[in-house]
Amino acid sequence: MSVADRTEHQPPGSAVVVAPSILAADFAHLGAAARAVATDADWLHVDVMDNHFVPNLTIGLPVVRSLRRATPLPLDCHLMITDPDRWAMGYAEAGAYNVTFHIEACDDPVRLARNLRAAGCRAGLAIDRDTPVEPYLELVPHFDTLLIMTIKAGFGGQEFLPELLAKVRLARRHADAGHLRLHIEVDGGITEDTIEQAAAAGADAFVAGTAVFEAADPAAVVRRLRRRAEAVISAARA
Ligand code: DX5
Ligand code: ZN
Repeated sequence: MSVADRTEHQPPGSAVVVAPSILAADFAHLGAAARAVATDADWLHVDVMDNHFVPNLTIGLPVVRSLRRATPLPLDCHLMITDPDRWAMGYAEAGAYNVTFHIEACDDPVRLARNLRAAGCRAGLAIDRDTPVEPYLELVPHFDTLLIMTIKAGFGGQEFLPELLAKVRLARRHADAGHLRLHIEVDGGITEDTIEQAAAAGADAFVAGTAVFEAADPAAVVRRLRRRAEAVISAARA
């Protein structure tokens, strides 16, 4: 995996990252799902669940290796697993663009973030529904992405929880005050109806599973999600 292969795949001038989650795609046709969004999405979000950290069981390293060969999209791997210290580096070696692990599952998040970055990968820290963000804000300079769940991690298709955006607002204030280069990513229940609230709260990276892959035209949904988020972010900057 060369550095060029990991280059951010963002339309020029877009301040927004849209990351369709293949959790909502047809698992027998993941290559086709990736192709359906390849020209419009920024990252492909890959939910790894181990039936321990969360009750659900999804996909692991062999699938990520195959996806790496099947799509040029950067792979945004969201590890909902216990013991990321044991497994996360494997995802970096498999060619993930970004590896995000949960604070609730990790004893030494800074060490793991350093190791991921040393392997040429981006590092992400995820915060589940019931975890406050304040105690972890001091860690974010070690990360490229802070993923704030807007549902309880584990299943797609759940309803967006707007009260969790308080954590996004706090994190955005912290990142701006410290002039940090940090993506604040929201995950869970993101649709054309909820993305604007999340963008207004300070998110700039948006995971959407059901909204994208259950639509007749997934690429069109990605474009509309981007437009809505961009409109909010550019109005806030004006
Ligand atoms: C759930 C996953 C999400 C999921 C989101 O724990 O982390 O990425 O795919 O799905 P939707 O967009 O359907 O809420
Ligand atoms: Zn996810």
